[in-house]
Amino acid sequence: MMDDASARAAAREERFSAAGGELLRDIWYVAMTAGELKPGKLHKKMFLNEPVVMGREPDGTPFALRDICPHRAVPLSAGQILDTGGVQTVECPYHGWRFRTGDGGCAHIPSLVEGQPFDLSRINVRAYAVVEQDDLIWIHMGSTPEARPDGPPPRFERMVLEDGASEGEVKYFERAELACHMDHAVIGLLDPAHTPFVHKSPLWRSSKTLKEKEKHYAPSEMGFTMLPHEPVNSPLYNWLLGRNVIVDIQFLLPSLRAESICTDRHSFLGLAAITPIRDDLCEIREIMYWNSPRLNLAKLIARPFTKTFLNQDARIMKLQGEGLAYDPPLMQIPDADTLMVWYRRLKREWIKSRAEGRAFDNPIKPATLRWRT
Ligand code: FES
Ligand SMILES: [Fe+2]
Repeated sequence: MMDDASARAAAREERFSAAGGELLRDIWYVAMTAGELKPGKLHKKMFLNEPVVMGREPDGTPFALRDICPHRAVPLSAGQILDTGGVQTVECPYHGWRFRTGDGGCAHIPSLVEGQPFDLSRINVRAYAVVEQDDLIWIHMGSTPEARPDGPPPRFERMVLEDGASEGEVKYFERAELACHMDHAVIGLLDPAHTPFVHKSPLWRSSKTLKEKEKHYAPSEMGFTMLPHEPVNSPLYNWLLGRNVIVDIQFLLPSLRAESICTDRHSFLGLAAITPIRDDLCEIREIMYWNSPRLNLAKLIARPFTKTFLNQDARIMKLQGEGLAYDPPLMQIPDADTLMVWYRRLKREWIKSRAEGRAFDNPIKPATLRWRT
């Protein structure tokens, strides 16, 4: 039995704040697609309110450093990539200090003269762990500069296409900025009830034809999965992908939703990845993988749809911001808002498990949810 005080504390924790909660640390985020990280140039980025400069070494290895020179704070992204005695470095444009791309250590200070006692190894700029995997650049946002990832970024079965061994290849993606806290963006992504209203389209669907739905969910390692639907055989899916279509949708922390469509011949994976830029701004990418040649054609048709879809979400997030500015209390109703309750529960457990230095213990239980959408 909970006493009054802890019940109140729990209720307060459950309160859904307009400002949004903590941005999760010690976890992988999608920084961008591999194609966006062009070689030979420095990319000025911001993740979780931290300025980051990203680039590639000559062999293509991605790197990420804090975008503030420790000398006098000039952004390193305004400098250049240079070879320093066989080591790749970024040179600051103000006084030419150079920092190794690999570990951020200071490799050169041009103004020092022979015999001046100065220990370069005392100076360094924060280096983030970055990995190129499945045609994406992932960045690990540690809670401290020393924090290292305890495993690789997540993979989804259907990213591994073709022969089961090859890397996923991004066939198509769209990107949009959302002027809101990441929590509202993720909740919008998970929210089944907004679809017929925000994403109505004469071709797609309208808000006048709501149907009752029942979905089965189970916990996964870092989130939850809408269990594969019974095989559906819709003519369009069959033509595009093959017979015996099975669809499953996964959500996992911090902000990834993967929808996979699998048939006896081909598969498709749509990954929505949200990355916080600042507390009040985030970006979303809709990233698609597939191995059906027919989808290469469909891409031309899909482009305007995906753009429209993202713009519809961006517009509603902006509108929501008008109201959130007044910090109103927010509501959650059964069952359409349950996924949002789960998201916030997952987040709390992630924060708690990191603080307590223990393994993440997924708080989600299997459930069947029903709504009209
Ligand atoms: S500010 Fe970067 S070298 Fe001086
Ligand atoms: Fe949406």
